[in-house]
Amino acid sequence: MIQFTEIQIDWETRSFLKNILQETFDVAHINQVLRSACGVVDFFENSSDAADFACYLAESYDFVQEPDRTAYGDFQTNPNLASRVASFLKQKSIIPAILIEPTFGKGNFIVAALSAFPGLQQIVGVEIYKPYVWATKFSILQYFLEHKDQPPPIVQLYHQDVFDFDFRRLSRQIGSQEVLILGNPPWVTNAQLGAMNVDNLPTKSNFKNLSGLDAMTGKGNFDIGEFITLTLLQTFQHSKGSMAFLVKNSVIKNLIFDQQHRPLHIGNIAQYAIDAKREFDVSVDASLLVCDLNKTPEKLCSRLLFDDPQNIGNQFGWNQNKFVFDLAKYRLVEAFDGTCPFEWRQGLKHDCSSVMELSRVNGHFSTPKEPEVHLEQDLVYGFLKSSDLKGGLLAAAKRSTIVTQRKVGQDTSYIKKYYPRTYQYLNAHWDEFAGRKSSIYRGKPPFSIFGIGDYSFMPYKVAISGLYKSPVFTLVLPESSKPLMLDDTCYFIGFADYENAAIAFALLNHPNVTNLLSAIAFADSKRMYTKEILQRIDLRVVAMSVATAEIQEICRSAGLTNIPDEEHIAAFLEGVQPQTIGQAHFKFFDPV
Ligand SMILES: C[S@@+](CC[C@H](N)C(=O)[O-])C[C@H]1O[C@@H](n2cnc3c(N)ncnc32)[C@H](O)[C@@H]1O
Repeated sequence: MIQFTEIQIDWETRSFLKNILQETFDVAHINQVLRSACGVVDFFENSSDAADFACYLAESYDFVQEPDRTAYGDFQTNPNLASRVASFLKQKSIIPAILIEPTFGKGNFIVAALSAFPGLQQIVGVEIYKPYVWATKFSILQYFLEHKDQPPPIVQLYHQDVFDFDFRRLSRQIGSQEVLILGNPPWVTNAQLGAMNVDNLPTKSNFKNLSGLDAMTGKGNFDIGEFITLTLLQTFQHSKGSMAFLVKNSVIKNLIFDQQHRPLHIGNIAQYAIDAKREFDVSVDASLLVCDLNKTPEKLCSRLLFDDPQNIGNQFGWNQNKFVFDLAKYRLVEAFDGTCPFEWRQGLKHDCSSVMELSRVNGHFSTPKEPEVHLEQDLVYGFLKSSDLKGGLLAAAKRSTIVTQRKVGQDTSYIKKYYPRTYQYLNAHWDEFAGRKSSIYRGKPPFSIFGIGDYSFMPYKVAISGLYKSPVFTLVLPESSKPLMLDDTCYFIGFADYENAAIAFALLNHPNVTNLLSAIAFADSKRMYTKEILQRIDLRVVAMSVATAEIQEICRSAGLTNIPDEEHIAAFLEGVQPQTIGQAHFKFFDPV
């Protein structure tokens, strides 16, 4: 029995179908009539489909509740957006003979294309969800009942898994005809599928060097929409025509990133940002990706707004061997793009905030669940989060954490012997530690943490939040002679002495660095500043470009009272060679 979901069939289409089905149950004849009416090939797959549908019409409405379609990344493009996209492509002089919609859903793009491109000769669509295949067929039929003068193209709608569809064969068939690949592939990642224990993945694939099985077992994270976009571009890159896909911005960024080593023959690449909240009610950065096929491979993409395409944005992509966010800005600061002489580190990770994050109250500690926690002082450190890093100087933390290890994997049995109260507290929360989801904790000593090493115990740090958009660096000083720790949303470089830290702080807040970061860091990334991005700041070249007085002025205006003198600055400039400063082991509190 066909599963009919909330398919909207208007009165005229309904009575047109009723009339045909009343006349005969000869499916070949019915399909013949429907093909000449709307172009759809094999409207009913077999006679039982046709009979089921006749019953459905006779019994009137019998809607089946729509199941959870999360695994299918199901965000249907609304008819209004679909028609604006189609008109936009028409304005760009895209006039296809063949339309391919690889995951056509309710068919809104297909209907929009019929209206924008009346000269279409063929439409090929694939969709896994049968009720949507029906919905699309009825919409197309309705369209042609309303536009009787328009000759229908051949419409081939396949109820099939896109991963099994033979697009190569199709690319051979279309030859030199102008093609438009239009759509909005599923918005779901293999990690989400893994969490739902659902399979909607290619079985055999070499995508990002992952087999379908590895992808499924979560060995790598990839976007199903990205896979479909790349598969189609790989297959049709030598065809005449264009692609226009609604995808997450991260998909476009990855596509351009791969153009350096695995170039596709695509050009005039542009992303037109859409308001995904308004159009799909999801908070994600998404755009209409538009590119021409069969071009010399290009490595840059223009960023524009779909609602205001005249407003020219930046271009991102490759500048020789550097991947940059804003090419025009980058050209002004590229001298500072190199290798940072200091190693950037990510902060401490424990994934157990209910136990590991404490407030200090009158000589003891507390958590939201436990008003009185008694711990020895030695393993407790002030703990900073992204929201604490607002620039300037910071020498105190609102919260504390327990640093159970001096390096990753260290045996933690010493805690019981030397710090019995701390052990008692941690042990009382054994279940919370055991319940940590991330596999990194598996097989590790009890109460393990990550992002910990000698560098964490450096007394002076220059830190930045990876999450906030503005590139502001904070100078972090020890609190009561103990280094402050940072959480894993923060990145920092550590120093053994105040002066070098203050000079690095001033240089990192200099416009040469701020401008470099805004030229290379992707504004729409969830984590805008990463170790990789920060490691590109060539602080040696920056130091050579900034006058001593400027360094001192930045320190002064940030509220530092202890301003590094000329001698220290000269010594910094002399000493700042790759990986030489600030890596000395710091001995405030020796490990047990
Ligand atoms: C984001 S929706 C977009 C639908 C349509 N392209 C549009 O723009 O409205 C993604 C569609 O992909 C379909 N889909 C998901 N996985 C699929 C698969 N493996 N094969 C074919 N279609 C699939 C879903 O059922 C859904 O209709």
